[in-house]
Amino acid sequence: MTIHIGAAKEDIAETVLLPGDPYRAKWAAETFLSDVRLVNEVRGMLGFTGTWKGHRVTIQGSGMGMPSLSIYVNELIRDFDAQTLIRIGSCGAMQDKIKLRDVIVAMTASTLSTPSRGIFKELNFAPCADWALLRAAVNAAEAKGSTPHVGGIYSSDVFYDERPDLNEQMVRHGILGVEMEAAELYNLAARHRRRALAVLTVSDHLITGEALPSDQRERSFAEMVEIALEAAFS
Ligand code: ADE
Repeated sequence: MTIHIGAAKEDIAETVLLPGDPYRAKWAAETFLSDVRLVNEVRGMLGFTGTWKGHRVTIQGSGMGMPSLSIYVNELIRDFDAQTLIRIGSCGAMQDKIKLRDVIVAMTASTLSTPSRGIFKELNFAPCADWALLRAAVNAAEAKGSTPHVGGIYSSDVFYDERPDLNEQMVRHGILGVEMEAAELYNLAARHRRRALAVLTVSDHLITGEALPSDQRERSFAEMVEIALEAAFS
């Protein structure tokens, strides 16, 4: 047990999927896993462990933003020895060619700052995905007949961003989408030599202003969960 995860060590699998929303963790566990057990409910940040095609998987909510994700990922790595950590979440599209419900596989995650700023200081470390996981996710998506967008994303600290100039620079530099967690996941995985990836579904569009209605979000997120599971065990 840790401060934020009230599970025994053996309750957490080596492979962990990390949605930001604890209720999405519940939905994904109940939809995709067998023999599901609730393994964490500290602060309502639900975590579940079950099996997928015979493989043990934990699906643990990570909360919103990098400070929250950092707590869960640090504990999952240091105390529960998680080896493969895949963020499954939503993002805002930053390029015209990307449409609502499209899947983005994040090769890199640019940021203004992360909880790791204190150790990197003036260095602009480049947080990147695990290559084998990334390749497996792209293969899994293509096998389903879907064509994911693969490239850099932007992990922002603010949802209601009052600095449109920064988003403009991201768009200009070909960044595919904005979310709020992946960069610190990649930093922590690099530091502890674990495998990490972020697979994202486009829920809103910064250029067109469109957004998915909440009742349609769940169905479009299913594809992303399947891609993450296939990638983890390929
Ligand atoms: N997650 C989903 N959409 C987002 C957006 N527009 N900005 C930041 N995080 C997001």
